[in-house]
Amino acid sequence: MNIRTPRGVALACASLVTLLGTGMSMIVFWAYDVAAPPQAVALGALGLFALSIAVIYSAIERFIYQKVRIIYKNIHRFKSTKERARDVHMGEDVMEKVRLDVMDWATEKIQEISLLKEQDTFRQEFIGNLAHELKTPVFNIQGYILTLLEGALEDPEHNRKFLMKAAKNVDRMAGLIDDLDVITKIEGGSLDLNLSVFDLGHLVREVMDQLEQKAKRAGISVVFVDDGPRKIEVKGDAPKIEQVITNLITNSLRYGKEVGGTTQVRCYDMEEQVLVEVADDGIGMSEEHLPRIFERFYRVDKSRSRNAGGSGLGLAIVKHIIEAHDQSISVRSTLGRGSTFSFTLSKR
Ligand SMILES: Nc1ncnc2c1ncn2[C@@H]1O[C@H](COP(=O)(O)OP(=O)(O)OP(=O)(O)O)[C@@H](O)[C@H]1O
Ligand SMILES: [Mg+2]
Repeated sequence: MNIRTPRGVALACASLVTLLGTGMSMIVFWAYDVAAPPQAVALGALGLFALSIAVIYSAIERFIYQKVRIIYKNIHRFKSTKERARDVHMGEDVMEKVRLDVMDWATEKIQEISLLKEQDTFRQEFIGNLAHELKTPVFNIQGYILTLLEGALEDPEHNRKFLMKAAKNVDRMAGLIDDLDVITKIEGGSLDLNLSVFDLGHLVREVMDQLEQKAKRAGISVVFVDDGPRKIEVKGDAPKIEQVITNLITNSLRYGKEVGGTTQVRCYDMEEQVLVEVADDGIGMSEEHLPRIFERFYRVDKSRSRNAGGSGLGLAIVKHIIEAHDQSISVRSTLGRGSTFSFTLSKR
């Protein structure tokens, strides 16, 4: 008889009641000199035991069921409480079971709370960063417009220049909003990949053509080190991979050598994958920044990238796109020597 279980307690109580009842009856019989046959005593004791066990058992069951139901109701917010309370068996250690269930519930809640706190900090940081990024172009635009209104509009030498500068800042804001749109879509899981097999070499050459003017202005030559006209077939979302390559090459121009730099794009044929490398001989980064450069809004040299118009979203988008393809991206860099970004793509 295990008195940790309600059944054990009911049995113990009923035995005690039977023992006391029978004992007292014997005393009464003895005091009044009643000769009770032993069979009658045994039958009475058995009846008393059956009656008391029925009463005590059902009382305990009702009591426990009610209490446990309240506990489950509170911790599971009315969710299948009846089933859970009915799950309680009289033959088991009810309190231990409830204690374990409450502990599970508490652990789950603690995890939920820390996740919510994390998300809240992330939201606050995100909004803070965003406000910070928008502040500069908005204040610039405000400044140019005010200057124009205060008289520069009539000054043929400056009016066009100020308007061009305002337009540049509007472009910067538009770019930032586009990037934000992409990043929120990816993170919200609503950006579906449109997979197809395409020629990566062709895509790289297209991106290089689009960036030709930018590269010229930056004084950097972009070269594609490929081995001939052979197709490099990969499976992926071509426009998104184009965005990845565009971001990486743009970074190599932005953070490249002041004059005479070179950016090399290479594709390595691996068994199941193709490894793409974008390597520059620019300003590079010191080791401590490398684990963080794929975070949103992270910039190594804030003043330099701000001058270059960067907001620190490019690599975050790149990483999201590559990971959405179940592939990976990494970076090697030496301060003053250059950086190499490499990512993989699946062949099929
Ligand atoms: N090729 C590179 N060489 C040196 N530093 C780089 C290179 N690429 C990126 N970085 C550093 O990593 C930071 C993050 O890059 P990321 O592309 O995310 O942002 P960004 O270029 O500043 O802005 P944008 O959102 O317009 O791309 C950059 O600000 C820069 O400091
Ligand atoms: Mg960038």
